[in-house]
Amino acid sequence: MTLRSGDIAISGCGSDDPAEDATYVELLAELQHERLQRQELQRQLERKTQSLRQTNASLVSLARQVDRMVRERTEDLDRGRSAAEAENEAKTQFLATMSHEIRTPLNGVLGMASALADTPLGLEQARILDVLRDSGRLLLNIVDDILDLTKIAEGKLTLEQLPTDVVSLTDAVCRQFEPRIRAKGLGFTKLCMNELAKGGVWVHIDPTRFQQVLSNLLSNAIKFTENGAIALTANLKAEKDGLLLLTLSVRDTGVGLSPRQVERLFQPYIQADASVHRNHGGTGLGLAIARQICQRMGGDLTCSSLEGDGSEFRASFRVSPAPAPEQDQAADPAESECAILSSRRWRVLVAEDNRTNRMVLRHMLKEYDLDMIWVQNGKKAVEAWSTQKPDLVLMDVNMPVLDGVSATEQIREREEAEARAPVPIIAVSANALVHQVKAYLEQGMTDHVAKPIRKQRLLQIMAQALSEAQGHDSAPEIGPHP
Ligand SMILES: Nc1ncnc2c1ncn2[C@@H]1O[C@H](COP(=O)(O)OP(=O)(O)OP(=O)(O)O)[C@@H](O)[C@H]1O
Ligand SMILES: [Mg+2]
Repeated sequence: MTLRSGDIAISGCGSDDPAEDATYVELLAELQHERLQRQELQRQLERKTQSLRQTNASLVSLARQVDRMVRERTEDLDRGRSAAEAENEAKTQFLATMSHEIRTPLNGVLGMASALADTPLGLEQARILDVLRDSGRLLLNIVDDILDLTKIAEGKLTLEQLPTDVVSLTDAVCRQFEPRIRAKGLGFTKLCMNELAKGGVWVHIDPTRFQQVLSNLLSNAIKFTENGAIALTANLKAEKDGLLLLTLSVRDTGVGLSPRQVERLFQPYIQADASVHRNHGGTGLGLAIARQICQRMGGDLTCSSLEGDGSEFRASFRVSPAPAPEQDQAADPAESECAILSSRRWRVLVAEDNRTNRMVLRHMLKEYDLDMIWVQNGKKAVEAWSTQKPDLVLMDVNMPVLDGVSATEQIREREEAEARAPVPIIAVSANALVHQVKAYLEQGMTDHVAKPIRKQRLLQIMAQALSEAQGHDSAPEIGPHP
């Protein structure tokens, strides 16, 4: 008998032995059963394979669908991001243009108003001029506030840490506001507590920003108080970590604010109600900026108020103590600037295409005996730098033929090639947004003075640049120009 698995090939059936035949039949039945089972398994396997194929096909189609959806969403997101970026870019561009366009004529208005103030004027004319200057400054404050807000939004509000006599600074700010307080018939008290009571307390703080916070609180208190008084309390307390907590409280007996108004007070562009703008103007930016300044100095700005019953604003700053300077260092910084600028006949190259701006600069520098060279575009500035060897350059940025930045780059390249000492180049520009100033400094400018030019800032930057370039500390040697 031969048995082969797979097909049923059987030989040897029909033997003489009945037992053998029975076994043979059993075996045949078993083989038959096995064959049927195998066929069944085969069918099941085929069914499974078929179903797996179908599952696989639907998985592939699902994967494709997911892939397509992901691609579409990514494209949507990319489109959204590009649109947001473009919008942001357009916003920055708009702010830059507006800021430039407002600053340029303001430079003329404020510069010429201060030139006029230096001429003999009658009482009436002087009064008119005061209004003109106040209005110009107000407009400048608004432009500056918007600029501050963009700095805050971009996280680029930089603060200085300068040794400052806070009592004197507080007094100086109060003196500025006293005429307005008197004019409204309000009372005013100023109380310096603890160590501040002795006066002459020096701490590290950003004096301009400190002044900005106090000015806004006092200006608000005056604006929103018709009867009664304003009280300023300044205090200084030692903290555990060696720092000091400087607090200012400005209380008034004015209109006050409801809890709902207090809640929204520190949001930009928010005023208590529409009548505030009608009656007092303002942009609603002051407190939002002031709070950011306090918080950046480790403190805060808070308000407690009762509608109809006055308000109290508390500003705090964490500061470190600063040593009181030696007597000669404590001298008025304006005096040392003046000493540097008058120490010799500095040769100053001015590149400025706008006639009004040239008049403003000429007026601001007229009290110093400077050897001024005037050019009206960047190309002429490079030529004058080459032939006249100025000690300092005041460079406008937007100029015809060659702009101020390109002119600066050319001067820097040639200085390097000719091994000439770098001349201080100060950008004097109505472009004053953070990213613009940063770019100018990266492109080789030494410093930046924003238009409208504040005379004190211009003189300070010029004196600093000249003294650094000549290797002086503060008191320069006196000598003629070579
Ligand atoms: N002392 C105060 N008493 C009552 N309301 C106040 C007082 N200070 C501020 N406010 C309310 O808070 C609002 C916001 O003040 P904020 O200083 O931010 O703006 P503003 O004074 O209106 O304008 P500006 O941007 O010129 O400062 C004010 O418009 C006013 O409604
Ligand atoms: Mg204000």
